[in-house]
Order: sequence, then structure tokens, then C-alpha cells
Amino acid sequence: MSFETKIAELAEQTGHWTKTETLALLSIPPDSSHGDWSLPCFTLAKKLRKAPKAIAEELAAQFPAPQGFEKTEALNGYWNFYADKKTIIESTLNGIKEKGLEFGFAKPKNKTVVVDYSSPNIGKELAFHHLRSTMIGNSLAKIHKANGYKVERVNHLGDWGTQFGKLITMYLREGLPTDEQTLSNLTIQELNKLYASFSKISESEPELENKAREAFAQLEKRDEFYRKLWAAFKEATLKELVRIYKIMGVDFDHYTGESFFETQIPAVIEELEKKNLLVSSQERDVVLLGEDIPPCLIRKSDGSTLYATRDLAAALYRKKEFDFEKCLYVVDNGQSLHFKQVFAVLGKMGYEWSENCEHIPFGLILHKNEEGKWEKGKTRTGTASLLREVIEAASAKILDVINEKNPELANKEDVATKIGVGAIVFNDLKNRRLMDVKFDWDAALSFEGATGPYVQNAHVRLCSILRKSGKNALELQFKNEELLDQSSYELIKMLSRKGEKIETACENNEPYILAQYSLELAETAHRFIHNNRVIGSEEENSRLFLVHSAQQVLESVLDLLGVAAIREM
Ligand code: ARG
Repeated sequence: MSFETKIAELAEQTGHWTKTETLALLSIPPDSSHGDWSLPCFTLAKKLRKAPKAIAEELAAQFPAPQGFEKTEALNGYWNFYADKKTIIESTLNGIKEKGLEFGFAKPKNKTVVVDYSSPNIGKELAFHHLRSTMIGNSLAKIHKANGYKVERVNHLGDWGTQFGKLITMYLREGLPTDEQTLSNLTIQELNKLYASFSKISESEPELENKAREAFAQLEKRDEFYRKLWAAFKEATLKELVRIYKIMGVDFDHYTGESFFETQIPAVIEELEKKNLLVSSQERDVVLLGEDIPPCLIRKSDGSTLYATRDLAAALYRKKEFDFEKCLYVVDNGQSLHFKQVFAVLGKMGYEWSENCEHIPFGLILHKNEEGKWEKGKTRTGTASLLREVIEAASAKILDVINEKNPELANKEDVATKIGVGAIVFNDLKNRRLMDVKFDWDAALSFEGATGPYVQNAHVRLCSILRKSGKNALELQFKNEELLDQSSYELIKMLSRKGEKIETACENNEPYILAQYSLELAETAHRFIHNNRVIGSEEENSRLFLVHSAQQVLESVLDLLGVAAIREM
């Protein structure tokens, strides 16, 4: 159990704080003579009608220090905790020796979490804003796994719906060949073009929209020829998607898109009818959801189904298939109403587990316009708007830096891509997810400041010391007394917090907690390296083992964020 957790449990026993509250309040005093952790008592003053100073003093007198702590003390309204240094050093470093990258991970909980993320619409290239769902979801999946859950990673592709009517209509209208050969060589760029021409032409020819709707209705009625076209469109998109996911290091267990649920829809509608939930309104079938939430559309007048209908089927399927404890939908804020409706319908169907379905929204990506102001939406000249282009541009910029500073580096294209992607991903995850992300090339790609390259660089430095030592870290013995200087001890304390950080990030569905932790870790590691000679010092073995431990924690935390922990740059 981590030191913070022990404090949190003690704090809970006092009856004044919950564990979660304590973890959020705990701070590390800037002056370590004031303890290793500090719990402020100011917020209790009103409730207890007492001065914070008196409250802290009473708590310190009444509750003995938990195991592994030397003492607790009250100081000016803070309840300060002093860890037993030997315990902290040994439990942390031996823990890392034993568990390696999995140090700080929770024991298996025997519970499953479904994470639905990325889930783009087929037929279109990934736009830059798709990055957010993809990377937040990817990280949340890893964080839940580290926190002991079994995780099912789902890509709920938008591979069904009127947009396919549009593509089919346009494809046929342009008279494009429909032989197997041509269809199997279709590219996503061609599909993008079809979309663009559809939007353009339908402005002057509104009839086209009807045609598209008819085409989709036909598709739902299993028209074989239309199916063949649809399958080819999907295949072309998937090829490109998987290529990009690979570059980004993103993976899924299931590509169960909307079309997967097609055959399960009739049963859902039947169930809604049986439970007397389906009403017709303006020729459509809806479920009424009371005063506060607009009705949820289930079926259109031509019999075709909707996005929400497919999400209902998907939720029922996931519950049956995975018996999830939680089902997370990592989707932008714009879809809050949709999820409110879907979860409410599930609730009305009598499924209490609808409470465990959770929409995980996030803010927008903002770009700088020509006047230097931040704005959302389409990017102007010069800035890329497709994810593919952003990745390519970032990697190219980093490759320039490598060519200038370390032209002999092996695999430099690969390293450049890992740093470029890492920079974009880190920029995306470093703040609370509901905040808008400001994307500025220079800031994101810098090796200084709160960036991916900065953290990756700290990892590279640790790796390089280990490499130069020529020793196998796992065979080294460390001595507690050689690690008591301030920068060694601070680094060890920082490492000891890994488990608690994973737990808080998981409970709040906030990868930024680990991103901030990785920054603190990088900073502390840099300071340790700056202050302590490692190779050739008297404490070489102890310090090398600490370097190894920091490397392991940093590698694992970067991985939980979806950023590659490179070894050379
Ligand atoms: N395809 C949707 C879109 O691009 C996102 C799907 C999210 N997941 C879900 N189960 N609805 O907007």
C-alpha cells in the first residue's frame, strides 16, 4: 500500500475526510523539514467551529502515525506526515525490483470495463480532432488495466447510416466502375472526394438527399449490390485507419461498428414495444423521456433506424457479452444529449446498469488563426487539418532537429515519428480533458517545458546512464544509507507515488493526472542527475539502481499515456 493511501485511510478514520478527498488535498511541503506529506485542515474550521491550528493539533495528538511513518506533527493548521525514510526507500526500490514496469499496478479486480473510443465514421479520413477520443480512450483503457480491471477496447465505427446512402448515390452518379478489382483498390481519398462532391451538388439539387436516404433504406433491406459497394467503402477506410492507429500505437480488441448491430435491432424494437415505451410521433417512433430530455428517435417513417437505436443494441450486447462493471464512451462533448437519451432509454427499459454507462466528454482542439487568436473548427492555410498530415508534419520537424543535433542516430525516421507523435499526444493529455486543447506547433514540439519531448528526453538520459555503466541493474544491490541525500530521496518519494497516481487517474477518468506526474518525475530525475554523479561515484551501485528504478517508472507512465518511451534521441 502506498504511503498516500495509508494517510488517506487514517484520514478517513478521523471521520472528517473520505479517502478520495484526502488524496486530492494531500500536498508535499516545499520544505522537507515540514514532513513528506501535508494535509491542510482549513476546510474543517467552519464545520468543527474551531481554528485549523487546533484541529491539526488534536488530530496529531489523537491518531498515531501509520505503519511505515516515523511520526506525524501539527504545524500552522497542517497535519504533517513524516515517512520512515528507510521504509520508503526499501519498499519502493524493492517493489520496482520485483514488479518492474508493473510496480504500482493494482491487483486484479475481476471486473470488466468497456472503453468505446476513436469510433470514427467510415468513408472519411481521420481529422485532427479525432485525436482526442482516440488518445484519451487509449490511455483510459491502459490506466484501467493497470488499476486491475479487465478491459475490452471497442471501436464503434460509424459504418452504417445515411452517409452510406450518400456515398453510394454519388459513386453511381459519377459512373465509377464497380468491378471487384476497382472496388478493392478504392482509397479513402477517393471516398473523401465523393463526400465533398455530394455536399456541393446537393446544394443545387436537393433531390439528391432523398436519393441518398432511399439508397440507405435499400442497404438496410439488404440489397446485394449496395452491400458490395458499402463493404468496399468500409474496407478502404479500415486499411487507412489501421495504418494510422499503428503509427500512433493504438489498438482495439473489437471493431464492432454500427453495422454489426443491424441484426440485433429488431429484437431491441420488439422489447421497446413490449415494454410499452415506443410511441409514434410525426410518423416516427420515439421513446418519450419526460420534460427535461427530448424524445429519443428510434425508427424513421421509412423503417430505417438511427444512431441511437444502434447504440441501444450495442449497450445491450456489451452487457450480455462482457458483463461490464462500467462502460465508458469517450466521445466529444457535442454528443452529451445523445448519451443522456440512450442511457435514459436503457433506464426506462428497466436496466439498472444504465447507471454504469458513462459518457466521458472532452473539449475541442483550438488552432491559432492569422491574427494569432485561438479558434475552433477548420484550420486555415498552413496548418494541417487531417491527423495524417499533422503527424507527418510533426515528425518532419523533429527529423530536422535530429539531423542538426545527432545526425548519426540509428533509425532516426522512426525516432522522429515517435517523438512527433508523442509530442502531439502529450499536448492532448496534459490538461483536464474537458479543457480545450491549444495546439501550437512550436510549443508542442519543444524539448523544454511541459511537453512530450521533454519527458521522453528525461527517459533517454536515464537509459544512457544505464547503458554507459555497462552493468545489469537487476543484479545491483542498493544501500539505503547511500540514498538519503535530498535529490535521491525526493526522486524515490516521487517513484513511490505511482500506484496512487494510477488509482486517481482511473477513478476520475483523467489521463492528465499521469501526464502531470510524468512531468514531475522528469523534473525530479533531471535534478537528481544534475546533483549526483552516478558512474564512478562511491555510491555507484545504489545510484545506478535508482536510475534504473526511475527509468522503469517513467517508461511505464509514458506507456499508460500512449507516448513511446524511446531510449535514444
Ligand atoms: N461515430 C461517432 C462519431 O464520429 C462516434 C461514435 C461514438 N460511440 C458510440 N457508441 N456512439 O461522431
